[in-house]
Amino acid sequence: MERQWWKEAVVYQIYPRSFQDSNGDGIGDLAGISSRLDYLKHLGVDVLWISPFFKSPNDDNGYDISDYREIMTEFGTMAEFDELVAGIHARGMKLVMDLVVNHSSDEHAWFQASRQSRTNPWADYYIWKDPRPEGGPPNDWQSIFSGSAWEYVPERGQYYLHLFSPKQPDLNWDNPAVRREIHEMMKFWLDKGVDGFRMDVINLISKSFAADPEGEDLYFQGPRLHEYLQEMNRNVLAGRNLLTVGECPGASPEDAIDFTAPERGELTMIFTFEHMDLDSGPGGKWDFREFAMPALRENLSRWQLSLHERGWNSLYLNNHDQPRMVSRFGDDRRYPKESAKLLAHVVHFLEGTPYIYQGEELGMTNLNIEGLDDLRDLESINAWHDLVEARSLFTPEHMMEAIRRKGRDNARTPMQWDDSPQAGFTTGQPWIRVNPNYQWINAAQQLSDPDSVLQYYRRILSLRRELPVMVYGRFEPLFPDHPSLFAWERILGEERLIVVNNFSAEPTPVDLSGIARQGEFELFLANYSDFRLSPDGRYELRPYEGFVLYNEAHEREDQDVSGR
Ligand code: GLC
Ligand code: CA
Repeated sequence: MERQWWKEAVVYQIYPRSFQDSNGDGIGDLAGISSRLDYLKHLGVDVLWISPFFKSPNDDNGYDISDYREIMTEFGTMAEFDELVAGIHARGMKLVMDLVVNHSSDEHAWFQASRQSRTNPWADYYIWKDPRPEGGPPNDWQSIFSGSAWEYVPERGQYYLHLFSPKQPDLNWDNPAVRREIHEMMKFWLDKGVDGFRMDVINLISKSFAADPEGEDLYFQGPRLHEYLQEMNRNVLAGRNLLTVGECPGASPEDAIDFTAPERGELTMIFTFEHMDLDSGPGGKWDFREFAMPALRENLSRWQLSLHERGWNSLYLNNHDQPRMVSRFGDDRRYPKESAKLLAHVVHFLEGTPYIYQGEELGMTNLNIEGLDDLRDLESINAWHDLVEARSLFTPEHMMEAIRRKGRDNARTPMQWDDSPQAGFTTGQPWIRVNPNYQWINAAQQLSDPDSVLQYYRRILSLRRELPVMVYGRFEPLFPDHPSLFAWERILGEERLIVVNNFSAEPTPVDLSGIARQGEFELFLANYSDFRLSPDGRYELRPYEGFVLYNEAHEREDQDVSGR
């Protein structure tokens, strides 16, 4: 097993709009991030992934870029970006930027030119198709943000493709000039000091158009995808020792190996989605189902076993597109703290690179969206208009409940720094409502509380630095058929970790006597501070109780609480 820094690292995702406002306009910004770097260093993360901070009309909060080499006006200036990079590097951390190149904004100069005619120099920078012979869009593909994926432009008498909003036209990767522009832009940011890329929906860049216009949506993982990634690797990434993570909705474990097997020269890891879809019914994201742990366990275990020594995965339970993990997979009402810590075991004790989404380390929860006025995200707003108003597929009650559970705004409420007005995020009016629970869930409180979720994260992160088995150990499931236990071992040579988690509010007995011989294991970590090792290996786990055992009395220096 080859050691790599990006396997050992822990990544922290910042959604800049909601992290820290520095000038009172209610919008987070780069100077705000700079002012919080000491907090992030103290937490112990190695890498910051910052969601897009490039020039954008903000139809999709920066995932619609109108100039790839300029900073978003609301977020600050290039000088502030340079300061931020310097501040990150001075603290020994790294920066990963979001590379959003499946599409640009329709306000990008390329698209403004492209739409004018079929013959201008940018005419083929986007995906243009003629109407069907009988009229209407070239095929029946649906946008991920509702409605047809095609928009008609009279100047060309053609439709352009937008897998997301009409303000996010898809770039034409089959045009070598487009690929060259993207490679040059990547080098521009590498020269400015970025240490890696998170590649937005990168498995959508090559499209395959079915002959049958009424055929299914075949836009995932088209025929030239791997060719384009290998070319990008050769031209830009190779030899720089970067972290590259591809966002790959719909990818299977076999696909993941194709993207990340080192000998293929593509990416270092991907974001997979199967585990994010377990609470969706056949009608998709808004056709919600209750979360059931065994499905999550089956899924994550299968990925663990498939990828070991063949590829590499990212580990995450939430991000800016997903609801908060404690609200979704834990119990945010009765056991918020216990379940937040328990879920941290799942992210940090499996094999892969762990990602923390801002506020997760505090156990931040969903917003409890009350009505349409609370919504900011175009995905939820469009879905409401389409599914409730236009097509009556869902009742307003169902849809509001679906948005309350799954809407992306849940993750985008301001970071909860302290219990002052607006949670210390801004001195002005925040662009999105602050979660009222900031009064008891906030960083200032947790920094001074030894039993807080935040302190638990700090401890986990410092353990990862000391213990190769946490990074490189092989995964082996335990009690794979139990209704509420999610338990496993990690094994590296002689070193073993045993991780046991009770995913329920009911007391749950577990017998480890056949697995961990008496005296052989010591307590490594537990989310109830009064947990004690049992001499006979039998435990009665309390609600959302979890613990980790380690088989070697390894020499650990006294815990350094300074966060280094
Ligand atoms: C990715 C981003 C999401 C964005 C979409 C379109 O899924 O994570 O926030 O809306 O791509 O760029
Ligand atoms: Ca601001």
